[in-house]
Amino acid sequence: MSGDAAKILNVPIAGKSYDIVIGSGLLLSGLERVSALIRKGEKTALISDENVWQRYGYAVETGLNALGIATEAIVLPPGEKTKDIGHLSLVYDRMAAAGITRKGCVIALGGGVVGDLSGFAAATYMRGVDFIQIPTTLLAQVDSSVGGKTAVDIAAGKNLVGAFYQPRLVLIDPDVLTSLPPREFAAGMAEVIKYGAIASPSLFALLEQTTVPSMTEIICSCCAIKSDIVAEDEFDNGHRAILNFGHTFGHAIEKRYGFSKYNHGEAVAAGMRIAAHIGEKIGMTAPGTAARLGSLLDRYGLTATESPVGLIEHIKSDKKGEAGGVNLVLLKALGAVVCVYKRFEELEVLLDD
Ligand SMILES: NC(=O)c1ccc[n+]([C@@H]2O[C@H](COP(=O)([O-])OP(=O)(O)OC[C@H]3O[C@@H](n4cnc5c(N)ncnc54)[C@H](O)[C@@H]3O)[C@@H](O)[C@H]2O)c1
Repeated sequence: MSGDAAKILNVPIAGKSYDIVIGSGLLLSGLERVSALIRKGEKTALISDENVWQRYGYAVETGLNALGIATEAIVLPPGEKTKDIGHLSLVYDRMAAAGITRKGCVIALGGGVVGDLSGFAAATYMRGVDFIQIPTTLLAQVDSSVGGKTAVDIAAGKNLVGAFYQPRLVLIDPDVLTSLPPREFAAGMAEVIKYGAIASPSLFALLEQTTVPSMTEIICSCCAIKSDIVAEDEFDNGHRAILNFGHTFGHAIEKRYGFSKYNHGEAVAAGMRIAAHIGEKIGMTAPGTAARLGSLLDRYGLTATESPVGLIEHIKSDKKGEAGGVNLVLLKALGAVVCVYKRFEELEVLLDD
């Protein structure tokens, strides 16, 4: 992966546009860009989890300190359970005790859990301080670090408390993915394949090639797609919904097993298979699409398939707020989507038939 030149994408959100910088080695060589955004003399919260800290934390902290940035390292336990009000409160307390002011900054160094929690802390601490993302999982690099959704989980459900809060910079170093456990890498690939399926026949074809494409190229394509969608619909009132391809069924699959059998990406992969199959069944999706999507998912280790029968109960409980039906994101063909509203009764017939 080394040798890739850094690529810069701008997310053009009015009044708060920011750069996503992607390239091999940026974890350290990109820190000057980070320090340029931090006000001199202000302390910065560097938030991470134990797994990431053990591998990369010391180097990042030392690098920032060498550039004159004083840091308060806040290292949390890994895993979704950390994305809660308790850990958020601990982060606020640590930031306050360290003397971080309204002119301070929060840096998230980690996966989506660290990014979502740190982003919400940045959005709310002293009514908002600067926020920088250094994502270290593939999912965070192609998805959660871009777009400004931040959140924590509460007992009633995932991501129920949060804010739209854009970072000032996203710094992506694909080299850190080499230490990612294979299941986590595959989970990120589910989102990568999703981007190809919904918006980019060329990305899809690139992933199908026998030669392994450069991760920088893949991550750039995904961030460009997400950035376009987010710039058009920052607050998720319309077009951003297409990013949910496979997710209605994926969430239902996660619920079917009480969130124990599959990680999110694996469930979304199985959900995309169902969405493609349903689309073909009702004539919305070009024939052969489901087979091609299935082969690509297989290729990246996302081999799980789930029966659609009985899934409707979990979809209904997931979509409690929606009266009588659900907006499904389906493929027209690879690279193009269509949204279709289905009443629960209609969908039940399609799924169980
Ligand atoms: N904000 C958004 O738009 C958005 C979008 C999608 C998902 N999410 C959220 O993202 C979260 C999931 O994120 P995730 O999949 O990155 O999970 P995660 O943050 O839990 O990371 C997965 C595991 O990988 C470890 N890890 C991280 N980077 C590593 C590295 N480079 N090497 C070795 N290990 C590493 C972590 O310690 C953790 O154990 C969920 O909470 C989800 O709700 C948010």
